[in-house]
Amino acid sequence: MAPRKPSATPALGMYPRVRMRRNRIDTWTRRLVAENTLTASDLIWPVFVREGKGVREPVASMPGVDRLSIDLLGEAIGEAKTLGIPVIALFPAIDQAQKTEDGDEATRPGNLVCRAIAEIKRTVPDIGVMVDVALDPFTTHGHDGLLRDGYVVNDETVEVLCRQVLVQARAGCDIISPSDMMDGRVGAIRTALDEAGFQHVRIMSYAAKYNSGFYGPFRDALGSKGTLGGKDKGSYQMDPANSDEALREVALDLEEGADMVMVKPGMPYLDIVRRVKDGFGVPTFAYQVSGEYSMLKGAIERGWLAERVVLEAMMAFKRAGADGVLSYFAVEVAKRLKSG
Ligand code: PBG
Repeated sequence: MAPRKPSATPALGMYPRVRMRRNRIDTWTRRLVAENTLTASDLIWPVFVREGKGVREPVASMPGVDRLSIDLLGEAIGEAKTLGIPVIALFPAIDQAQKTEDGDEATRPGNLVCRAIAEIKRTVPDIGVMVDVALDPFTTHGHDGLLRDGYVVNDETVEVLCRQVLVQARAGCDIISPSDMMDGRVGAIRTALDEAGFQHVRIMSYAAKYNSGFYGPFRDALGSKGTLGGKDKGSYQMDPANSDEALREVALDLEEGADMVMVKPGMPYLDIVRRVKDGFGVPTFAYQVSGEYSMLKGAIERGWLAERVVLEAMMAFKRAGADGVLSYFAVEVAKRLKSG
């Protein structure tokens, strides 16, 4: 075996004069020496929206998560704001009947997501609204882009994404979040926004987004699982085997004008979060995705895990260097932080 590398932090002293447990002896000492903290300001809450009135439809594979009709958004998001959550991320569950091969609904100004943005801006003015850019909620095949002869074409998709961005920006969206993994999309989106006078709309790119099985429940929530069938997104999302490649993706997105970057999924990719934060020193976010939520929630519901694992997972993101976390637990976490 290769010799172990010397540790970065040498032991400063020796037992019995040094006793590490002294700093762990009671709650106030532990609080005093804590290296990381978690507050509601670190949280982004993903919200699913659907058509209808007064509809709160549970997502079967995500216990506790609902698809809400637009009229219920104000109250739910108002609560999130009161709890100190700075931003919500909006995801539309589009009726199957409105999905098409090319996902045209994505670029229609009065679509579900645009009406939802406008409603949130009207009812909860001081919360940030972030919206995904990708075609998967709108396509019959469930891919994030245009499918031509079985391949998701890049440049043609980027053009459509830019049109999608503009309807969302016009509706009042604050942060555009490209989750599609097309090459060159961040630069094209920045140009489209600037040319249309949206210099202040921010871009948080899904810079290192992996081709992951942990998105399963999300695809249930959007109804894109059936449409995607057994096909996967490996020709555009990253291979879970890779780490250096994530740094290159982040570098390109920053070069193209991303204001913030994201690593996704979260907990299985904390090594990537740390490398990105250390390598670039830019606002870095992690997405604790649907599958991570369902694993924890499912185990908690069965009594296999205690609820404290949720805060532990959140702290793990902070420790890895994330400036914030997208989490379906956001409201629950914010409530817990408030009650102390
Ligand atoms: C769509 C998108 C996905 C997620 C966010 N935006 C799924 C995918 O790429 O298939 C996943 C979120 C989650 O699992 O919670 N491009």
